[in-house]
This record gives sequence, C-alpha cells and structure tokens, in this order.
Amino acid sequence: MTTLRPFTCNDLYKFNNVNLDPLTETYGLSFYMQYLAHWPEYFTVAESPSGEIMGYIMGKAEGHGENWHGHVTALTVSLEYRRLGLAATLMNCLEDVSEKKRAYFVDLFVRVSNKVAINMYTNLGYIVYRTVLEYYSGDPDENAYDMRKALSRDVKQKSVIPLSHPVRPEDVE
Ligand SMILES: CC(C)(COP(=O)(O)OP(=O)(O)OC[C@H]1O[C@@H](n2cnc3c(N)ncnc32)[C@H](O)[C@@H]1OP(=O)(O)O)[C@@H](O)C(=O)NCCC(=O)NCCS
Repeated sequence: MTTLRPFTCNDLYKFNNVNLDPLTETYGLSFYMQYLAHWPEYFTVAESPSGEIMGYIMGKAEGHGENWHGHVTALTVSLEYRRLGLAATLMNCLEDVSEKKRAYFVDLFVRVSNKVAINMYTNLGYIVYRTVLEYYSGDPDENAYDMRKALSRDVKQKSVIPLSHPVRPEDVE
C-alpha cells in the first residue's frame, strides 16, 4: 500500500534512492527548506509500507492576476515504482491544491530530451506553451519546454494558447 503524506525535513535523509536518477535534480538544503517553509501543501511524498520513499512532488504557487498559477518544481518516482500511476497521482494532488488556491493554471519546465516525462504530461492534459532556450546549464546547454494545463478558473483557456516564438530564461516570469 502507498501512503501519500506531507514531505518533512527528515525525508531529506531518505530520498537518495530517488534522487540518484540522472533526470532528477538535487538542490541545496536551503532550497528544500524554503519550499517546506513557504509551500508545505505543495510538497508531497509517496511512501512504501516499509517507509521507503517511492517518489515525491515539490511545487509552489506564484504569479499575479491571471498569471497566478501552481508550479511543479520537481517530480520524481524511484525506478522500481515506475509505471504504477504514482506520478499521475502526485500531479493530481498538486493540481487539486492549485484549484483550491483559485490558480488559473499549472506549469512546469522539462528538458526537451525527456520524452518519457513529456509524454506523461501530455497524457495528463498538459500542452507545450513555449520553448525556453538554454534553460538547463550543461555541456551543451539544453532547451526546456514550458508545459501548462489550464485549471477551472481559466474559463476561456487563455493560459494555454501557445507562444509561437521561443524565449530566453531571463524572460520567464
Ligand atoms: C516521469 C516520471 C515522473 C513518471 O513517473 P511514473 O510514476 O512512472 O508515471 P505514471 O506511472 O504515473 O505514468 C502516467 C502516464 O505517463 C505515461 N508514461 C509514464 N512513463 C512512461 C514510459 N516510460 N513510457 C511511456 N509512457 C510513460 C503513461 O501514459 C502513463 O500512463 P499509463 O501507465 O496508464 O500508460 C518518472 O519516469 C521519473 O521519475 N523520471 C525521472 C525524473 C523526471 O524525468 N521527472 C520529470 C522532470 S520534469
């Protein structure tokens, strides 16, 4: 059985099995603390009966006016627990929280090479809103897709009209 519960500081000592994945970013301690302090309702972990971390989602709410939205900062599921619907369930949690906050949409950034994640987000109703050039630093840098899904408050679905031109990271709000 899987338990979904709020992520806590102690989980930072236990998430190595998940974060060893090359597509999963590991941030500095203060970054996680900032999220736990500001947006604890957006930080959810899926735990196995033995207490192992199966996956987690970390996000936030940000923006003004019609740009008020939920954002997925990290989503990852441990290799052995993939294809069980865990990521879809965690995304659903984040969308529910964003609905309750009356957000207009949910967005996220994903590497253009991360076909599995792009396919998953597409199946969950997300569209590529725009391309962000060289968003991920590396050798070489890699572009990101900014993907979005409109929430019920965005009745006219204005937030998901794709931009026709790519943008630079400094132009992303
Ligand atoms: C992307 C990731 C989070 C998906 O987690 P998951 O728990 O396996 O995904 P789910 O089981 O919820 O899959 C939901 C749907 O996404 C699609 N999907 C997920 N993995 C897929 C795969 N390997 N191939 C094809 N489609 C896939 C399917 O449509 C799936 O539904 P289905 O199983 O009913 O067909 C996981 O592969 C992962 O942690 N990857 C590394 C980190 C990462 O890339 N995070 C996203 C960064 S933005």
